[in-house]
Order: sequence, then structure tokens, then C-alpha cells
Amino acid sequence: MEKIILSLGGSVVNPGELNIGLIKKLSKILIKSKQKYGIVVGGGWLARKMVLEGKKLSTNQDYLDDLGINSTRVNAQAVLGYFIEKKQKVYPKICLTVEEAEKKLKKYNFVFMGGTAPGHTTDYVAVKLAEKCKAKKVVNISNVDGIYTADPKYDKTATKIPEMSLNDLYKMMIKEKFKPGQNLIFDQKATVLAKRNKTELHFIGSINMGDIIKIIKGKKHGGTTVK
Ligand code: UTP
Repeated sequence: MEKIILSLGGSVVNPGELNIGLIKKLSKILIKSKQKYGIVVGGGWLARKMVLEGKKLSTNQDYLDDLGINSTRVNAQAVLGYFIEKKQKVYPKICLTVEEAEKKLKKYNFVFMGGTAPGHTTDYVAVKLAEKCKAKKVVNISNVDGIYTADPKYDKTATKIPEMSLNDLYKMMIKEKFKPGQNLIFDQKATVLAKRNKTELHFIGSINMGDIIKIIKGKKHGGTTVK
């Protein structure tokens, strides 16, 4: 069984409330594929709301990041419910470190995490977990179906890039500065680590989640492949 790490965007699973239909659809695809998954869930709306409200109490960056981290863990705890219900080999708690997740992945087929420590996002946690588990692929699922030449939300002329190198992604991301509750296509530290480890990154959207199967089979998919 191949080990695959998912960086599951919080804005996909919790854009304002839990997207139950989508969580079930994704879970069914993963269960059917019969692989081992380390699933790192983002904070989405919950993290952004908590960071925004928290700022009214303190602007301390670690405090705001911890609010974000706890939000990611709440979302992760919610997503694993379907796997419990379907009696899958899922570790029923949220792993707090990549070391813990790597150990649990030996026994279980589905292991969940949120964030770990201040200063990065769950994208970095996903790449770190891939490093720890020696997983070759990280699949990033967000509400944008790949990497574009510009932000497609604001620029109608933006086009999707089907394939790019880790070095090109690095050049793209390194211009951005880390901010709590930030919402970038991929975190800066995650990009640096993926480049160092030569981790294959696959960016897909929540509409074409079936692309996960193509990624497992090493086939071309509708998102962006970075390697
Ligand atoms: P996310 O990983 O959700 O970041 O963490 P994001 O870029 O907003 O991505 P999506 O779209 O929701 O998935 C939310 C915030 O939690 C803190 C950071 O402040 C981050 O911006 N965080 C998260 C950490 O400090 N450390 C972590 O390991 C994870």
C-alpha cells in the first residue's frame, strides 16, 4: 500500500460551516482506493474567524497562530467521523505531531492531523509528514483547481499551469511573507521543504477530487503537478 499525504484545505471542508456532502464524497473515494493516508486538515473559515476575533484581544503572533492551530484540529476531528462510522482502520484522535502520525500510520490506514506549531500552515505539516513517512506524493486539495499564472478570482486572463518544477513554485512563493490566517496556494516553508526533499506535489480542486485516483496511478490529471 502506498502512503499518500493529503493537505486538505480548510476552505474546502469548512467554508462557513462543515461541507458534509463534500467530506462524504472525498471519504468514499479514499476508502475505495485502498491506500494509506495521512490527512492534514486546514482551518478555513473557522481559523480566519478565530484569528480575526482573537486580534481584538491580543496581536501576539504565537497566540494568533495557536488559535489557528486549534481550529485546524477541530476541522480534522470533524472529517474523521465518516471513517469511524464506516468502520475503517482510522486512528480516532488527532495526532499532535508528525512523529505521532508516522507511528500511527503503521497500524492504521487513515491518520488525521491539523497544525503543529506557530509559524507555518498545515501545508508545511503535510510536507513534513511526507518526509517522516517517506511518502513520495503530497496532494493539496483546495478551492482552486490548480496553480494559475495569476489569482483566477481577480484576474480573468489567468491560465492554469499543468506542470511546473519545484524550483518554479519556490520562485513564486518566496515573494510572500508569512501572516497568521494567510490564504496562499502553498505555504512558503512547505515549498522550501518540498524542494529540498524533492516531494512531488499535486494541486487539485474539490470538484475534481476523482483526480486522486489518477495521481495514485501516476497518470496525468486536471490539476497542477509540481516535481
Ligand atoms: P491553515 O493551514 O488552515 O492555513 O492554518 P490557510 O493558509 O488559511 O489554509 P486553508 O485554506 O484554511 O486550508 C490556519 C492558520 O493557523 C496557523 C496559521 O496562523 C495559519 O495561517 N497555523 C496552522 C500554525 O501556526 N501552525 C500550523 O502548523 C498550522
